[in-house]
Amino acid sequence: MKVVIPAAGLGTRFLPATKSMPKEMLPVMGRPVIQYVVEEAVASGADDIIIVTGRGKRALEDHFDHNPELGAFNSQPALQSLEALSEKATIHFVRQRSALGLAHAVLCAEQHVGREAFGVLLGDSIYECDPPVLSQLRMAVDRWAPRGSAVALELVPEDRVHHYGIVGGQALGPGALRVERLVEKPKAEDAPSRYALTGAYWLSPRIFDCIRSTPAGRRNEVELTDALQKLADQEPVIGVVIDGRRYDTGTPLLWFETNLRFGLRDPEYRAALERVVAERGSAPTSSTERSK
Ligand code: G1P
Repeated sequence: MKVVIPAAGLGTRFLPATKSMPKEMLPVMGRPVIQYVVEEAVASGADDIIIVTGRGKRALEDHFDHNPELGAFNSQPALQSLEALSEKATIHFVRQRSALGLAHAVLCAEQHVGREAFGVLLGDSIYECDPPVLSQLRMAVDRWAPRGSAVALELVPEDRVHHYGIVGGQALGPGALRVERLVEKPKAEDAPSRYALTGAYWLSPRIFDCIRSTPAGRRNEVELTDALQKLADQEPVIGVVIDGRRYDTGTPLLWFETNLRFGLRDPEYRAALERVVAERGSAPTSSTERSK
């Protein structure tokens, strides 16, 4: 099974940290976000992963390559599991030569994907889903629309709809709808619902023709949401409210929040982090004072 991971975005919501470092390499509890994304793809059954990169993104390739210079450090458990991950799926890289948007990035993988259905996971979002998010989408397609497509949804508050692609449609059953309308980042009053695209997709290969015939949208980029509207006009696209959680890491606050959440439930970090949080409002204690 093939999964495309678009990771060519410029990370403009995270400058200057992302001026020369890919946003997908930002660490969450010691692992870069892209590693979580590849783990999610592999957990969903991917054995062939295509990461779409761009200028300044070489660190992504290096991360999944063996590094002999690390010598004995390569035997650390964290590096061993990364090595094992890189062996579970073949990871290919293709470059998007110009920043022409998410749909164009997906189109860059067309030759590699061929004429089979495939998954898409965005390179800056971490999922914690059981079953894995793409498995949930595939199950929905099998049930409601064999040979169709599916998109992962979450309900967002009204004041957040303008950050997402929003979909509307006819309910099929609990947590599933047949997508009829998709609008990229609408104003609250124009939104067809509060169901937001979370950035996980199971797509029929007909999406490539739809992308090719979609004009650039408001951001002067070809939006995947607009191409999906064309697809939904021709064949079934199922919206699936995902069972699980998604963590966005695309802004400093979201990234920080994700780290804090993950840290607070990690037995190794919890006590130290709770102490820092408890110090809130009181004069900060320096680490030197604390160690006295
Ligand atoms: C992209 C998609 C949008 C989706 C969002 C999820 O937007 O265009 O439809 O809701 O990812 O994170 P971006 O975050 O790249 O602006």
